[in-house]
Amino acid sequence: MADLRTRYMGIELKSPIIAGASNLSTDLHKLRKLEEAGVAAIVYKSLFEEQVQLENLELYERKTEYEHRHAEQVTLFPNSQTVPESPDDYLLHLRKAREALSIPLIASLNAVTDEVWVEYAVKAAATGVAGLELNFYSLPEEASGEHGAVEKKQVETLRKVKAAVKIPVAVKLTSYYTNALAFIAELDKAGADAVVVFNRLLQPDIDIYTEQHIMPTNLSSSEDNRLPLRFTGMLHGNIKASVCTSTGIYSANDVIKMLLAGADAVQVVSTLYRNGEDVVKSITEEVEKWMDNRGYNNIDSFRGKLSKKKSENKFAYTRAQCIICPCQS
Ligand SMILES: Cc1cc2nc3c(=O)[nH]c(=O)nc-3n(C[C@H](O)[C@H](O)[C@H](O)COP(=O)(O)O)c2cc1C
Repeated sequence: MADLRTRYMGIELKSPIIAGASNLSTDLHKLRKLEEAGVAAIVYKSLFEEQVQLENLELYERKTEYEHRHAEQVTLFPNSQTVPESPDDYLLHLRKAREALSIPLIASLNAVTDEVWVEYAVKAAATGVAGLELNFYSLPEEASGEHGAVEKKQVETLRKVKAAVKIPVAVKLTSYYTNALAFIAELDKAGADAVVVFNRLLQPDIDIYTEQHIMPTNLSSSEDNRLPLRFTGMLHGNIKASVCTSTGIYSANDVIKMLLAGADAVQVVSTLYRNGEDVVKSITEEVEKWMDNRGYNNIDSFRGKLSKKKSENKFAYTRAQCIICPCQS
């Protein structure tokens, strides 16, 4: 039987399939179901700095004074029409989840100020989680601002968190960087144990009949995994950090593609929502079957075979326009 073990951010995993951060990972019953279905690790839902600020503002008592902030919360927590749990409750639930699971649990944070990043990295690490994932994103809201300032700040945040905790630290990125490869190289130098490419942010939409903004459920499709595939293929063999591919990974086919491109692990979320936790079982079995049929005993015997570094097709990862378009032939 094929051996699916892999090393991700210095942690030995029984397979490359990780359940990514989502609202599923706050429910103990769902966490257990994910473990039973065979995920190798779980990233717990992010703690957002807004939760910390809400507590500081004693929002629970004075909710109405902060209506505008509450509106932001609803967009950050699309499935929750209520105020999110306090950071203390979050840490308590994180600890309970860690105790209930025998697979590694990774905590995820999104803060704004370095003080909060470091404070909650230390507090999350103290719950006994196996690693941390820093959920880095920054959407430009104004036309002013220095180019590169976001990247500089995020590298500095990573350095501070790495200095404060002993457990491995991954960074989860969006694809919105001027040169994501150069930025990842900086994060790698600053000690990132893994990079997750890429997160998929909520995007606004408009209902033309109500003429109102809406925030529809933000599930991906398998088509969305091409950009993460491109970056996985370009990163493999070029950085020390592990590479974890995220977005649009639905099937065994998708997982195998990412491993061939060079992923150390993959994260799944939307497929869990659409197909239920048990999809992990069938994905795992199909990956094993594919490996057995091809005579691959372990993942290292084919990981990165089609990465930019190892592939004979040197244009696969650099072509971005149709010169002779296959769709028109
Ligand atoms: C309902 C929902 C909640 C999510 N919450 C978080 C979160 O708290 N932190 C985070 O880093 N990503 C979060 N994500 C993003 C996912 O972890 C993942 O990166 C994204 O959905 C792309 O993967 P997918 O195509 O498998 O869904 C969330 C996604 C969904 C659909």
